[in-house]
Amino acid sequence: MKFFVSVALFFLFLNCFATAQTLIQDSCKTAAKDPTLNYDFCVQSLEQDPQSKTATTLKGLVLASTTNAESKTTNVKGIVETILKNKTYPPGSESALSTCVELYDDANNSLNEALMNVKSGDYKSANIDLSAALDAPGTCEDGFKETHEKSPVTNENNDLFQKIVIPLVFTNML
Ligand SMILES: *[C@@H]1O[C@H](CO)[C@@H](O)[C@H](O)[C@H]1NC(C)=O
Ligand SMILES: *[C@@H]1O[C@H](CO)[C@@H](O)[C@H](O)[C@H]1NC(C)=O
Repeated sequence: MKFFVSVALFFLFLNCFATAQTLIQDSCKTAAKDPTLNYDFCVQSLEQDPQSKTATTLKGLVLASTTNAESKTTNVKGIVETILKNKTYPPGSESALSTCVELYDDANNSLNEALMNVKSGDYKSANIDLSAALDAPGTCEDGFKETHEKSPVTNENNDLFQKIVIPLVFTNML
């Protein structure tokens, strides 16, 4: 009897796991109709995130992927702050880097507002918040074009852009 209960629980667990995986894959597939969203990045990014992996609804996945984008924003901000502190930046790009730190703070505030608006079901406002946050990585990169120096965080900004695109496109599917 105990054995059968264990087996049943095991399959229940497998089933829940499979549901989450399917939710991620199905949602990323639908979202990838938007050419700015990369399907492989979407699936990989969410399957690596514990909160996204256990989401059971699209709304839950929007909340999880927004939080995931917030972690990335905090992470990239930390990298830029370290570069500034170490003074390991190309000459003349200090002010561009400082601007990026401010942009990440603004993006983080927008992502926090998006979380509140998704929770209360105001998806229109959430869309505006996520669109505002999405500007940060590109605007950060633009700052370096003016200095004619290469940005030390181009890859991070590309990843951050993709991580914010995910909840933005998902919100439009709610
Ligand atoms: C973003 O907001 C979260 C939650 O308020 C906070 O924990 C995190 O430190 C913030 N990150 C940045 C870059 O401000
Ligand atoms: C900054 O300096 C610390 C300590 O000297 C070092 O461990 C770290 O790798 C440096 N980071 C960058 C981004 O230059």
